[in-house]
Amino acid sequence: MQRTKALILSGGKGTRLRPFTYTFTKQLIPVANRPILYFVIDDILQAGIEDIGVIIAPETGEEVRRVLAEYTFDNKKIDFNFILQEKPLGLAHAVKIAQDFLGKSPFVMFLGDNLIEDGISSYVDKFFSEELDALIFLKEVEDPTRFGVAVLDECGNVKKLVEKPKNPPSNLALVGVYIFSEKIHDAIKLIKPSWRGELEITDAIDTMVSKGNFVKAQVLEGWWLDTGKKDDILEANRIVLDEKIKREILGENLHSKIIGRVQIAKTARIERSEIRGPAVIGGEAVIIDSFIGPYTSIGDRCYIEKSEIEHSVVLEESKIFGVGRIDASLIGRRAYISKEEELVKAYRFFIGDDAQVEVC
Ligand code: TTP
Repeated sequence: MQRTKALILSGGKGTRLRPFTYTFTKQLIPVANRPILYFVIDDILQAGIEDIGVIIAPETGEEVRRVLAEYTFDNKKIDFNFILQEKPLGLAHAVKIAQDFLGKSPFVMFLGDNLIEDGISSYVDKFFSEELDALIFLKEVEDPTRFGVAVLDECGNVKKLVEKPKNPPSNLALVGVYIFSEKIHDAIKLIKPSWRGELEITDAIDTMVSKGNFVKAQVLEGWWLDTGKKDDILEANRIVLDEKIKREILGENLHSKIIGRVQIAKTARIERSEIRGPAVIGGEAVIIDSFIGPYTSIGDRCYIEKSEIEHSVVLEESKIFGVGRIDASLIGRRAYISKEEELVKAYRFFIGDDAQVEVC
């Protein structure tokens, strides 16, 4: 039998996360100070799959390569096969251009901005033991109109998939993880671009169903996060901090109160501040006279003085000075936020295209 491979999709446009995604790919946004993509790779390696292809875009591919070069699993570096997708022409298009890498192998396809609680090991086993051609994953959602939605028969076989339905036939949304046999390639050859100009993986799976391939669905019990928007990233950060952070105070603590599950990197310094977990503080970060509240990740080399931050993700090298309280925020790399006066007389901004500022 051919060895199982994995294909991670880390291209795309990321329009819903502008301005971040002008310079940064969303799959590299950190939650609990670790790029989302790292969690995806953890799941794949934990399932025993080491042959991993990564779809990258021309604008952000170099950065993905650089960040993945630093990834380790059990202290081992991993070799990835990078596949350049010139244009984001759809999920099935990504599979098409990865055909040389995939060959005739069965493979797990994982969208690089999706996180699932359960991992994939048991599902890879199920795919082989039931001799499936495709195993797709579903999750019950409140508003199925925003997703691909599946209709199943009573045995859990997939009857039909509908993309963003106006009248959803079920509340089971398609999660961004799939396991395919080589038959997916024949199905992709038969589909045409959709109205939005993309080769849709839902159309390819539908084609497999209509050709009589054995396509089954697995409804996930655990959480699923699609981190395509700001609030989804904050939610991912909350869940990952909640589940994975253990108390580990390595940095310098000068007259500060550190409460609960907090991780402070060795080279960080906390002065006259309160850090309330779950929270992480990155390397060489400096926190002075501040409060870092629960569910907050502060990146490497950030400088925070006289500020309060809760339920937020602050990326590396940002400086925040004298700003009362920041809540539910995603702050990019090297951002600078300051407030000079106690009473605000005017706001002064120097922010890029598509930035969002909410004065509450
Ligand atoms: P989406 O989130 O559906 O698309 P997008 O990344 O372009 O974002 P937006 O909707 O905000 O514009 O993509 C799902 C995942 O698949 C994401 O990790 C990017 C990746 N992807 C590719 O690698 N190639 C593609 O052609 C597409 C459409 C997505």
